[in-house]
Amino acid sequence: MPVRKPKVVVTRRLPDPVETRMRELFDTELNLDDAPLSAEALASAMSRADVLVPTITDRIDAGVIAAAGERLKLIANFGAGVDHIDVAAANERGITVTNTPGVLTDDTADMTMGLIMAVARRVVEGAEAIQRGDFHGWTPTWMLGRRIGGKRLGIIGMGRIGQALARRARAFGIAIHYHNRKPVSPRIAEELEATYWESLDQMLARMDIISVNCPHTPATYHLLSARRLKLIRPHAIVVNTARGEIIDEAALAAMLDAGELAGAGLDVFEHEPAVNPKLLKLPNVVLLPHMSSATIEGRVDMGEKVIVNIRTWMDGHKPPDRVIPAML
Ligand code: 8YV
Repeated sequence: MPVRKPKVVVTRRLPDPVETRMRELFDTELNLDDAPLSAEALASAMSRADVLVPTITDRIDAGVIAAAGERLKLIANFGAGVDHIDVAAANERGITVTNTPGVLTDDTADMTMGLIMAVARRVVEGAEAIQRGDFHGWTPTWMLGRRIGGKRLGIIGMGRIGQALARRARAFGIAIHYHNRKPVSPRIAEELEATYWESLDQMLARMDIISVNCPHTPATYHLLSARRLKLIRPHAIVVNTARGEIIDEAALAAMLDAGELAGAGLDVFEHEPAVNPKLLKLPNVVLLPHMSSATIEGRVDMGEKVIVNIRTWMDGHKPPDRVIPAML
C-alpha cells in the first residue's frame, strides 16, 4: 500500500529549487502569490497541514497553536529565529518545532561587517552624494568617516553569528569584546583574542562599536533599553542584524537625532515592516530591509534544511534542528 505523503503547507514563496524538491517529496501546498497569510488563512493552513513551513511573517502564538488541527505535528520554520512561534505551546500540544541554524551564519556576519563599514565610512552618504551630482572634485576634508581598525567591538550574543562576526572583525584589526550568558570555550576565546564582559553595562560604556547578535527572547526584549543606550559613548556606533525588538527603537532614534550617538546600521526593526520615522531622516544611519541572510545560496540552503527536517520526521526520527524551549 503506498504510504501517504504528508500535507506540507508553505506560507511564503521559497526559491524555485526548494519548491520543486518539496513538490516531488511531499503533498505540498505553495503560496504562489507570496502574500503574507492573514490570521484566518494561517489558521486554515494549520487546520489542514501535517507540516507547516512558516517564516518570520507568520505570528504563531499560543492562541493560534491551540486552534491548530489534530493533524499538525511539525512546524518546520524557514529561518533561524523562532521568536514568532510559541515553541513551548507547540511542544505541549505534541507539535515539534525546527529551524534552520548554521546556513545563514556567514551571510549575516558579512552583512553586519558591511553595516559597520557603511556607517563608519559613510558609504551610503557618499553614494547618494555622487548620485545627486554633488561630487565636485576631491577635497582633503570632505566625507571624513572614522577608521574602524584599532577600535573596540562589543558583540552582544556570542553564538554562531557573533563568532563569525568576530573572525571577520579581527581581520580588520578590530579588538573583540563580548557579552554573553556565559563565556565561550577557552579555545575560541584564545582564537578570537576575545574579552568577556559579564556586565553588559560595563561593556557598553567602553566600546566604539556595538553589534547585536543574540536571539530575541523575553529575556532580551529591549536589552538595549533607553537606560543602557545612554551608557554607550557618543562617538560609538550601534549595528543590529538580529531582531529589532532587542533595542528600544524610539530611544535609539531619539539619541541619534540628538547627536548622542555617532551612527547606527540597522537591518531589523522593532515593528517590521514599519520603521521609526525619525530614523528615516538621519544621515548617519544606514537602514536595510531585513536582508542580512538574503543570498540565493543561503535561502536555498535554508530550504534544504527545512526538507531534511521534514524527511527525518517522516521517517520517524527526531529532526536534527529541533528547537527546545530551554535553548531559548
Ligand atoms: C530569515 C532571519 O530570512 O533566519 C532568521 O532568523 O532573521 C532571517 O534572516 C527570516 O527569518 C526568514 O523567516
